[in-house]
Amino acid sequence: MSRLLELSGLTAGYGGVRALDGLDLHVDEGEFVVLLGPNGAGKTTTMKTVSGLLKPVSGQMRFAGQDLAKVAAWRRPALGLGHVPEGRQIFPDHTVLENLALGGFPTRRRKAETDRRRDEMLEIFPRLAERSSQLAGTLSGGEAQMLAIARALMAAPRLLMLDEPSLGLAPLKVAELFGYLKRLHDERGLTILLVEQQASTALRLADRGYVLERGRVAVEGTGAELREDPRVQAAYLGQLRQEAG
Ligand SMILES: Nc1ncnc2c1ncn2[C@@H]1O[C@H](COP(=O)(O)OP(=O)(O)OP(=O)(O)O)[C@@H](O)[C@H]1O
Ligand SMILES: [Mg+2]
Repeated sequence: MSRLLELSGLTAGYGGVRALDGLDLHVDEGEFVVLLGPNGAGKTTTMKTVSGLLKPVSGQMRFAGQDLAKVAAWRRPALGLGHVPEGRQIFPDHTVLENLALGGFPTRRRKAETDRRRDEMLEIFPRLAERSSQLAGTLSGGEAQMLAIARALMAAPRLLMLDEPSLGLAPLKVAELFGYLKRLHDERGLTILLVEQQASTALRLADRGYVLERGRVAVEGTGAELREDPRVQAAYLGQLRQEAG
């Protein structure tokens, strides 16, 4: 497998606050990697730094063989970096179809290609097809999250980064959402980096995972290894017990 994303010694922060402190992690082509860790560990900051919303203080970021420091933030989507940020940013006053069309913009593809991908998204997410002319601002939480993901997929990313997509969704909707992510990975080979609080579910989906603490990697391993790791069990004991029971 070839290395798609590689972060080494990444340090970043906000004014005096150091949010990333020598972070090393990688995602290989075709992998499903999950990023865990307590509140404030630096998970969101990691994604913001990779997508260019935040400039690192030091360290290296390589994506698809390129040094990201040399790629402006606005060019990163065209390079294949997809980011569904915390709080699913869709355009509330535009319809579902318009939101999808806006997602296709960074690729500068011809209209025929945009239409083809949009139809593909409506096939993957039948709920969005039913709601295609509804204003995005009136969608339910789960539908809005699907739209945010479909919109990111319109640009045909090589890596899709998702920041807590399950936040605020009812358990059944979370299961549905994770089902979509698993299918996109298994059937379409999509490479995924997922930030998730629901550790045990995420670790069952993922090939590998990292636990961040205070801006660096505290534990890493395969999904199965992390589920067995005493440090992970200590941090997420309630969840793992619940699932065992
Ligand atoms: N805009 C900001 N200004 C100042 N400090 C910030 C800002 N955003 C994040 N931080 C700080 O940076 C650190 C890492 O935050 P980050 O949002 O990356 O954590 P996280 O792992 O995503 O947490 P959560 O699980 O709560 O989403 C925290 O200490 C946080 O308070
Ligand atoms: Mg966060």
